[in-house]
Amino acid sequence: MTERSVVAVVLAAGQGTRMRSALPKVLFPLAGRPMIGWVLEAVRPVSAHRIVVVGHGRDRVEAAVARLDDGAVCAVQDEPRGTGDALRAGLQALADDEATVLVLYGDCPLLRTAALEALLTGLRRSATPLAMLVGRTPDPRGYGRIVRDGSGRVVRVVEERDATPAERALDEVNPGLYAATARFWREAVARLRPDNAKGELYLTDVVAMAAERGGVADVAWPLDELRGVNDRAELARAEAVLRRRIHEALARDGVTIRDLDHIYVDADVRVEPEAVLEPGVVLRGRTVVGARARIDVGSVLEDVVVEPDAVVLPYTVATRSRIGAAARIGPFSHLRPETDIGPEAHVGNFVETKKTRMGRGSKANHLAYLGDGVIGENANVGAGTIFCNYDGVRKHTTVVEDGAFIGSDSQLVAPVTVGRGAYVASGTTVTRDVPPDALAISRVRQENKEGYARRLRARLGSGAGER
Ligand code: UD1
Ligand code: CA
Repeated sequence: MTERSVVAVVLAAGQGTRMRSALPKVLFPLAGRPMIGWVLEAVRPVSAHRIVVVGHGRDRVEAAVARLDDGAVCAVQDEPRGTGDALRAGLQALADDEATVLVLYGDCPLLRTAALEALLTGLRRSATPLAMLVGRTPDPRGYGRIVRDGSGRVVRVVEERDATPAERALDEVNPGLYAATARFWREAVARLRPDNAKGELYLTDVVAMAAERGGVADVAWPLDELRGVNDRAELARAEAVLRRRIHEALARDGVTIRDLDHIYVDADVRVEPEAVLEPGVVLRGRTVVGARARIDVGSVLEDVVVEPDAVVLPYTVATRSRIGAAARIGPFSHLRPETDIGPEAHVGNFVETKKTRMGRGSKANHLAYLGDGVIGENANVGAGTIFCNYDGVRKHTTVVEDGAFIGSDSQLVAPVTVGRGAYVASGTTVTRDVPPDALAISRVRQENKEGYARRLRARLGSGAGER
C-alpha cells in the first residue's frame, strides 16, 4: 500500500534522559541496528517521504539516518520543548498541505508495517480529522491514558504525570502513532499550550482538539508491537523480541536453531538453509553462514563469511574473515581480520590468525600464531609455530608454499619463504628462505650425559636417586 501522498514524521529529537547516556536514544543498537533504523524500516513501505526530527546528538542522528534510509530527510528541533514542538519542526520540512501525515515516535522499534497500514485505513474509512492507534496493557505505567466519554468516544489523552488516580487506573493507552492531513496538524500544533506538569508542548493534546472538531478514529492494535523504549530495561526487552523474530524467521527458512532464545543473530546476518546454530552462538554485522555449515556452541562471528559445509567448533572468535567450504575451525580458534581460510582447511585450538590466507586442505591444528601469512595448499603447520611478523616497526609476510611441512615449535622470521614441499625440522628458527623440497634445521645437537640425573638427585639429597 505505497501511497505517494503519505509522509511520515518520526520524532527523534528528545534527550532520552531515562537512558542516562551521551548516545542519543534512537541510536542505541538493537540486534545490530540502531533503534531508528527499525522504525524507518517499518515506515518505508507505506510512506514515500520520511522526515526525521533530530535535535539531541543531531549530527550523529543525521549521519545514521543518511546511512539507513536514503529517502529520509532530517528536520531540526533546536530545543526539546516536547513532542508537539517536535512535530512543528517536522512540518516545516513538508510542503504539501494535502498530504496524509503519519506521526510517530522514534523510540518504538518493535513497530511493523501492518500497524501503520491499519492506521491509514482507519483514517481513510472515517470522516474524522485524526486517526490514532490505541492499545491495552495490564501495566500502563509510562504511557498516556486514553480517556473516553460515556458513549465510548475518545475525548483526550492524559499524560501519566497529569492524570488523576482514576485516570491512571485506565488500562487503555496511547502507543503514539497518529495520522491526519498536514493541514490538520499545522493548525492543531499552532494551538498547543505548555500548560501541563512538564511545561512542554504535548503532541497528545491534539487528540482533544480533534475530538471537538469531528472525532477521533481509534484503531486497536496489540501494544506489544508498539512499546516505547525509555530506559535500558525496556531496551533489553525490545531487543529480545526483535531477536526472537529474527531467529524464528531463520528457523522457518530452514535453519536449525537448537535454542531460539539463546543465540544472538543481528538483523543483517544471512544464514542459508540447513545450517545449524548451536546455543550461545553470536553472529554480528554482515556475517553470512552458508548451507549446511555448523556453528557450534559459544562461537562469536562478526562480518565473517562461512561457506557451505564448514564447521566452526565451540568457542571460536572470528572477525572480518572468510572460512572456506567444508573447512574446520576450532574449538577455541581466533581468526582476526583479513583471515581467509581455504576449502577443507583445518585451524585448531589456540591458533590465532591475522591477515593470513590458507590454501585448500592446509592444516594448523594446534597452538600457533599465523600473522601476515600466505600458506599454500596441503601444507602442515605444526603445534607451537610462530610467524614472527613484526620487527617492532613493520609487519612482514611469511610464505609457506604448497605441501610444505613446518615442524612443531618453529619460528619463521618474516619476511621469509618456505618453498614448495620443503620441511622445517621441529624447533627450527627459520631466518632465510628454504628452497623447495629442502630441509631446514637449526637446532643445538643433543648430548646425553649418562647417569647425570641420578647423581644430581643424590647431591640435592632428595633420596629419590635410589629408585
Ligand atoms: C509519549 C506520549 C505518550 C505515549 C508514549 C508512547 C507525549 C506528550 N506523550 O510519551 O502519550 O503514551 O509516548 O510511547 O507525546 N521527542 C522529540 N522532541 C521532544 C520530546 C520528545 O523529538 O521535545 C521525541 C523523542 O525523541 C521520542 C519521542 O518524541 O522518540 C517520544 O518522547 P518521549 O519523551 O519518549 O515520550 P513519552 O514520555 O514516552
Ligand atoms: Ca517514549
